[in-house]
Amino acid sequence: MGSMLFSPLKMRGVELPNRIVVSPMGQYSAKNGSCSEWHIMHLGSLAVSGAGLLIIEASAVCPQGRLSPSDLGIWSDENAAALEPAINFCRKFGGAKIGQQLWHAGRKSSTTVAWERQQAIPLDKGGWTPEGASAIPYPDRNTPIALDAAGIKRAIKDHVDAAKRADAIGVELLEIHGAHGYLVHNFLSPLTNQRTDAYGGSLENRMRFALELFKAVRDAWPERKALGIRISTTDWADGGWEIEDSIQLVNKLKELGCDYVTASSGGSVPEQRLSVFPGYQVPHAERIRKETGMCTMAVGLITQPKQAEEILTSGKADLVALGRGMLYNPRWPWHAAVELGEEFFYPKQYERSHPSMRSGDFLKPAR
Ligand SMILES: Cc1cc2nc3c(=O)[nH]c(=O)nc-3n(C[C@H](O)[C@H](O)[C@H](O)COP(=O)(O)O)c2cc1C
Repeated sequence: MGSMLFSPLKMRGVELPNRIVVSPMGQYSAKNGSCSEWHIMHLGSLAVSGAGLLIIEASAVCPQGRLSPSDLGIWSDENAAALEPAINFCRKFGGAKIGQQLWHAGRKSSTTVAWERQQAIPLDKGGWTPEGASAIPYPDRNTPIALDAAGIKRAIKDHVDAAKRADAIGVELLEIHGAHGYLVHNFLSPLTNQRTDAYGGSLENRMRFALELFKAVRDAWPERKALGIRISTTDWADGGWEIEDSIQLVNKLKELGCDYVTASSGGSVPEQRLSVFPGYQVPHAERIRKETGMCTMAVGLITQPKQAEEILTSGKADLVALGRGMLYNPRWPWHAAVELGEEFFYPKQYERSHPSMRSGDFLKPAR
C-alpha cells in the first residue's frame, strides 16, 4: 500500500497531488509590495520541489498592513500584475498547486526586515502607525491605533479585494493569516484586545472580526476554490488565547465553510513560554481535528519523512507543512518519496538524479 504522504487530497475543486505543503515564508524582497526576481527563483524552485501545495508568503492586503517596507503585497493591481508571471512560471514547470496567504500585520507592523532583527521603524524614519485591535504596543514597536468601526470595515474589504486579485491571477487556495500576533490574532487574544465594543470583551466578541472577515472572503472567493486559515492555537501566556478558544473558533469557522486550519502558535507577546521540539505544534492540530472534525495542516519542525507520514496515518492532521526544512532542502519531497518507497514525478531534465539511475551507464536514455 502506498504512503499517505503521497496520497492526493481534494478540497472543493482543488486536487492536491500529495499532502506535502510548502509553508508560507516571507522573503522581505518586494518593492512597493510587488514581487521581484528573487521571488521567481524562490517560488520556482519550490514549485518543482514535488510538494503538492505551495503557499505564497504572507501578502499584505494594504500598505500599512505590512511588517516591513519590503514585504509582499496584494493590495494593488500592480502587485497582482507583478505576481502573475511568477505564478505562471511555477505552473509551467512544477506540479504544486498555488496558494497564497492574505495578511495584515496589525500592531506589529512598521519594522525592519528579518535580517535587520525586525527593529521598529519610527515615524520620523519612514515608519508608520500600526493598526491594531487596541492601542497596546508590542514592546519596543510603534504604538498602534485601535481600528474604529469604519477601520474594521475597511480592513475586511481590503482582504476581500485582495482575494479578488488573487483569484484573477490564478491562485487556487487562500489562507487567511490569523496567527503570530498579527491583526486577526490581535482581536482574538485578550492580551491585545481590550475593546469595550462588540469586537472586544467576551470570547464571542473577540472572535467577531475573524469570523466576519472569513465570511466576507468566503463570499467573494469562488465556490470551487479552497479557503483556510492559519491560527495561533495558543498564546503560550497567562491570560491569553488558549487551545480551548481555538476549538470554539474552529467550530464557528466550520459553519462558514472553512476548508482547513493550520495549527501554528504564539507570536502575540514576547513573554510567551514556548518550548520548541520536533512536531511541537502537532498535538494542537490533532486536538482541533479530533474535537471539531476540521481538516488540519500541521506545521513546526516536521523534518523527517517518517515523522510526516506518522502524523497523517495516526490521524493527527490531513496535511503537513514544512518551512525551514524546504528552504534547506527544496528536494525534500523527492527524498521522502525514496524513503517511503514511492514512485515520483521528476522533471525529465532531472530524472537521472534518482538514486536508481546513478549507478548505470549515464549515456543510456533515461527511464
Ligand atoms: C523565513 C521565514 C518566513 C516566514 N514567513 C511566514 C509567513 O509569511 N507566514 C506565516 O504564516 N508563517 C511564516 N513563517 C513561519 C513558517 O511558515 C512555519 O510555520 C515555521 O517556520 C515553523 O515551521 P518549520 O519548523 O517547518 O520551519 C516563516 C518562517 C520563516 C523561517
